[in-house]
Amino acid sequence: MTEYAKIEFEGKIYEFPIIVGSEGEKAIDISNLRQMTGLITLDPGYANTGSCISSITFMDGEKGILRYRGIPIEELAEHSSFIETTYLLINGRLPTRDELNQTSILFNDHSLVHEDMQIFYQNFPRASHPMGILSAMVNALRSFYPELQTIEEEINITVTRLLSKVRTMAAMSYKISRGHKVVYPRPDLSYCANFLNMMFDTPVKHYDIDEDLVKALNTFWILHADHEQNCSTSAVRLVGSGRVNLYAAISAGIAALWGPLHGGANQAVIEMLSDIQEDGGNYHRAIERAKDKKDPFRLMGFGHRVYKSYDPRAKIMKKMCHKVLKKLHITDPLLNMAKELEAAALKDDYFIEYNLYPNVDFYSGIILRAMGIPTNMFTVMFAIGRLPGWIAQWKEGADDPKWKLGRPRQIYTGPKKTQYIPIDKRCTQ
Ligand code: ACO
Repeated sequence: MTEYAKIEFEGKIYEFPIIVGSEGEKAIDISNLRQMTGLITLDPGYANTGSCISSITFMDGEKGILRYRGIPIEELAEHSSFIETTYLLINGRLPTRDELNQTSILFNDHSLVHEDMQIFYQNFPRASHPMGILSAMVNALRSFYPELQTIEEEINITVTRLLSKVRTMAAMSYKISRGHKVVYPRPDLSYCANFLNMMFDTPVKHYDIDEDLVKALNTFWILHADHEQNCSTSAVRLVGSGRVNLYAAISAGIAALWGPLHGGANQAVIEMLSDIQEDGGNYHRAIERAKDKKDPFRLMGFGHRVYKSYDPRAKIMKKMCHKVLKKLHITDPLLNMAKELEAAALKDDYFIEYNLYPNVDFYSGIILRAMGIPTNMFTVMFAIGRLPGWIAQWKEGADDPKWKLGRPRQIYTGPKKTQYIPIDKRCTQ
């Protein structure tokens, strides 16, 4: 039986149905609110607003739960591969062995990037941020790969191209930024191994693929693969709702992810830890600054809009960090400092009161550093991982015949109707 929530306004009572999700989450369906009452809602940052109904990812921020298509992130991180998780997110179920093999073959078939794109890469100024380059180049893909004949073919091939080429494009931008020769994808390598090889193989030094690092990269990308209606995913859905091509919608997602409050936090964490280290390692000062309301400084990698307990991805990332560093025989002073900083923050009254825990970005930079990924590529690594989620979320919208153009409203607080005054009659004071 449908439950209703009542709103009383100007002496009248209006009823709105309650929508219940499969995990018991409840929402008031206010899609007719303005029509019925003349009111709109105001919710800056959309903290209480559901923008869609989705069957892709479930998260419970209070309990620290994250599941893709019902499967806990811990199980996927332990047993799955990034390609299998990608299939799961986009198709709604785990693939058979045959389907998984087919997906790998398709990714190999589409892994090359149009040679003419190299000219663009080579002409970006050297100091360009890789996220800016990636966003621009993903948008440019539409010009190199025009629309296909049938809608189904267009969607399937575009999705495959994006998933496969983004990895090649990311490695390419790194090589070109260093002035090195581009390494082409190899059909004999898996998705993650191929990426590492394209990043680190050189004509003078062969890159030995380490299966433990391949496994770590798989896990890293699985942990980033989707996170329901976050800032960049909402950007993809909103831009996509205008029926723009998928490349353009994903390019918008990459731009949104770049910001330090979102995916750019992984780069910001390492920069923050390095600054603290250069400052003599006094992390207590960083904690005091983060608590000072007059100081805009925040503890990067801490806090989350939804998680009000430990981010389950951060737990896995922390464990993996130790494993990777041990395997590579690396002692990173930043890891020890990160652990001490985390322990001190978790005991601090401010962080307890505000429910601020480490998020996925707190430990991820240390793993990427150990793998040899340069700091300014960290957010690109996040973007490659988040791509299947963006695509799955976009597809869910595109598959809905009632997909509405995203268009929020506002409360206007500017001047009331004002007369235009010609320039020679305006007061000059
Ligand atoms: N350090 C210090 N104080 C913080 C922090 C932090 N990391 N995060 C939140 N707060 C405080 C704010 O100052 C604010 O205090 P106030 O209410 O007294 O003004 C309060 O907590 C709420 O902060 P908001 O920014 O309003 O809350 P929101 O839910 O929007 O915050 C966010 C989420 C943006 C992630 C925030 O915690 C933050 O800036 N963290 C640091 C950046 C970061 O790590 N981002 C990655 C997030 S994960 C991801 O997107 C992949």
